[in-house]
Amino acid sequence: MSNDWWRTATIYQIYPRSFQDTNADGVGDLNGVRYRLDYLVWLGIDAIWLSPFYPSPMHDFGYDVANYCDVDPLFGSLDDFDALVSAAHAKSLKIIIDFVPNHTSNEHPWFLASSSGRDNPLRDWYLWRDAQPDGGPPNNWFSHFGGSAWSWDERTQQYYLHSFLPEQPDLNWRNPQVRAAMYDVLRFWLRRGVDGFRVDVISHIVKDAAFRDNPANPNFAGEGPDIARLAQTYSSDQPEVHDVIAEIRRVVDEFPDRVLIGEIYLPIERLVAYYGKELGGVHLPFNFQLLDARWDAATIANIIEMYEAALPPGAWPNWVLSNHDRPRIAARVGAAQARLATMLLLTLHGTPTLYYGDEIGIGHVDIALERAQDPWGMREPDLGVGRDPSRTPMQWDASAFAGFSTREPWLPLTPDFATRNVATMREDDMCILRLTSKLLHYRHAHSALGIGSQRLLHASDHVLAYERLQGADQILVALNFCHDTRSFSLPNGLSGAVALSTHSGRSGERVPAKLELRGDEGIVIKIG
Ligand code: GLC
Ligand code: CA
Repeated sequence: MSNDWWRTATIYQIYPRSFQDTNADGVGDLNGVRYRLDYLVWLGIDAIWLSPFYPSPMHDFGYDVANYCDVDPLFGSLDDFDALVSAAHAKSLKIIIDFVPNHTSNEHPWFLASSSGRDNPLRDWYLWRDAQPDGGPPNNWFSHFGGSAWSWDERTQQYYLHSFLPEQPDLNWRNPQVRAAMYDVLRFWLRRGVDGFRVDVISHIVKDAAFRDNPANPNFAGEGPDIARLAQTYSSDQPEVHDVIAEIRRVVDEFPDRVLIGEIYLPIERLVAYYGKELGGVHLPFNFQLLDARWDAATIANIIEMYEAALPPGAWPNWVLSNHDRPRIAARVGAAQARLATMLLLTLHGTPTLYYGDEIGIGHVDIALERAQDPWGMREPDLGVGRDPSRTPMQWDASAFAGFSTREPWLPLTPDFATRNVATMREDDMCILRLTSKLLHYRHAHSALGIGSQRLLHASDHVLAYERLQGADQILVALNFCHDTRSFSLPNGLSGAVALSTHSGRSGERVPAKLELRGDEGIVIKIG
């Protein structure tokens, strides 16, 4: 068994705009992350993934990068970044940063050059194509944020491709100069000591060489975002992408002990291809299956089994419950099941990624129209696709702006922030924050949870149970997905004691052969 740190680590995603403001502008910053490191140590996470903090016009809140090798003044400076890395490392926390290779900002000097004239040396760094004879765009591809993926450039009389906003032109990764420049970006940050990258939409970086039309999506129900109308047959997940990813991996491997994580929304069979030939792809292709799974024991058991079965030899699994693009877990399954979901995430086989704020159970937040920020939500307003509700500020205490800032934050706090905040919840042994912290520390203390094998024991009548095993360390997890009492019989001959429960008053209880689970209850049992 390899001892790569990222196998046993729990990753904690921070959306820097929303974690901690230290200069009273209502927006979080890098010094704010550094200020809160002791909290993260207390919580028990191992690695921080920072969403983008690079100079950016912020059309997509930093996913439109105008300079890959600097920090936006809104978030601080390179010195602040270095200070954060040293402080984190001194506390044994790893720092993973977001790498956005598919597109730049339209204000990036590369695009300014590329769009300045057809014979500019950087013209081919982006994807320029002629109009159709009728003046229309080169093909039928949609932007992920609605409308055509092509925008017309008056000056040079061609269209350029943007898989996202028009302000996010796609780079041409078939051009070796682009690849070389981007690898230097990786090296710039690797030398600064980052422990790895989460790579934005990595499956999109190579497109069909002939830019063929995408076929209709047979599963499109007639309503939904534009992007869902067509299958992404030619605009993403092209066979050639794997060679490019192998190159990226080789750059990362020039430095010891770094991790490469890929943002990839694909069905399992396509997803696992991103581990790469001889596992020379990304270490962790994000496993997003729980993000839209029907929330019941049988469905989740099925997902676990299919996923484990699909993993190539040597591949390490991982699990995600929510992120800055998707509804928060408590918004999706409710407060009671969110506790159970946390127990699931932190006891499953594989590296968990925890989204900031989920540990205090932030649920759905209503964002008034006049405070909406997300460009996708604003471009397709009737679909409820806006991502603002998942990006509201972290809530630290009961003071005026929840300890996040000293002025009105860029997005609203939850109405119950006076009680839903770290300072208040740390005092309450039964709240989701303490549960999360206990689970994380328990995970560290038990190699069965960190690296142990996993066996499904039971998935019926709303109860999901599995065992984790490593040497003499044997742990059983039983989760009740319904609001009523359920019982579960331990496999023959096993007995043990409750180590952790989502509910009160159970710790240390000897577990009888037939175990009663209260509604929404999950328990971790130490066998022996
Ligand atoms: C990824 C990011 C998302 C962003 C998009 C375009 O999906 O997670 O927030 O809008 O890429 O960069
Ligand atoms: Ca700030």
